[in-house]
Amino acid sequence: MNDLEIHLDERDLAASLRADVTAGLTAPAKWLPPKWFYDARGSELFEEITRLPEYYPTRAERAILTARAGDIARITEAKTMVELGSGSSEKTRLLLDALLAQGTLGAFVPLDVSASALADAVARLDAAYPALSVRGIVGDYTRHLRHLPDGGSRLIAFLGGTIGNLLPAERATFLRDVRGVLDDGEWLLLGADLVKDPAVLVPAYDDAAGVTADFNRNVLRVINGHLDATFDPGLFAHVAVWDASNEWIEMRLRATETMRVSVRGLGLEVDFARGETLRTEISAKFRPERLESELADAGFRVRHRWTDDDGLFTVALAQAA
Ligand code: AVJ
Repeated sequence: MNDLEIHLDERDLAASLRADVTAGLTAPAKWLPPKWFYDARGSELFEEITRLPEYYPTRAERAILTARAGDIARITEAKTMVELGSGSSEKTRLLLDALLAQGTLGAFVPLDVSASALADAVARLDAAYPALSVRGIVGDYTRHLRHLPDGGSRLIAFLGGTIGNLLPAERATFLRDVRGVLDDGEWLLLGADLVKDPAVLVPAYDDAAGVTADFNRNVLRVINGHLDATFDPGLFAHVAVWDASNEWIEMRLRATETMRVSVRGLGLEVDFARGETLRTEISAKFRPERLESELADAGFRVRHRWTDDDGLFTVALAQAA
């Protein structure tokens, strides 16, 4: 594809997968980072999750952006919009439409680890928005923020509640880093899921159709494919629990029998006891006050914050100050 700037190639990705799998599967409490869910099949499964009746975040955030895109355009007068972890950039169109209608926007810069997803998104956006300069950056939003284009009325969008995948310390570092690349007066648009009744939260991560279970197990297929491992995904049960003290959803895979898995690409043998779990994701949920204080600690002022009518999800518009 044309307009793609690559800061993360197949070799870097392979090296970080090896490092993550080595660290995670040799730890006393096994874990894997959620970014490895998203190969082509994982990305499709995630798209399917966003349409499930139980998975409210996508619909709630879309309702907020539909209602507020005009306000966001008017307040920020953004000339460049950057989207971190853009995936398919579907909700982003609401913002692009509003910013273009207002006449300020000249460039859109989606950043994502997946070159193929990004190439697709850039091609589709180029076709839909001929007047807009669209330049994709293949990179990791925790590592490549320094490659964002230079200043002048930028708006960085980080949507979907993906901020929840970061542990609290990682989140603080990330928000500081985002602040660090912005000039005073520039903007961050942050989507975050809210703390709510576990009876609503847990089914969103453990749906009746089993799509999330399949998505969760996909990380094992990714490791099998890239590191020549022998995971049998069918021997792992999907687990989603609400951790009330940390206020996050934790997804795990539970070994349903004792087994030894070979990760031949790493020369690693990994033993699982029956019932042992492997943590694959945290998805932190927020109380509005905490979100605002974390943004303040990172050097932002929250100028506006909106919630959908059902009070499920929030979008904060914060200014570097
Ligand atoms: C893409 C990180 C926002 O945490 O809700 C969906 C990923 N995991 N179902 C989330 C996910 C299980 C999702 N984010």
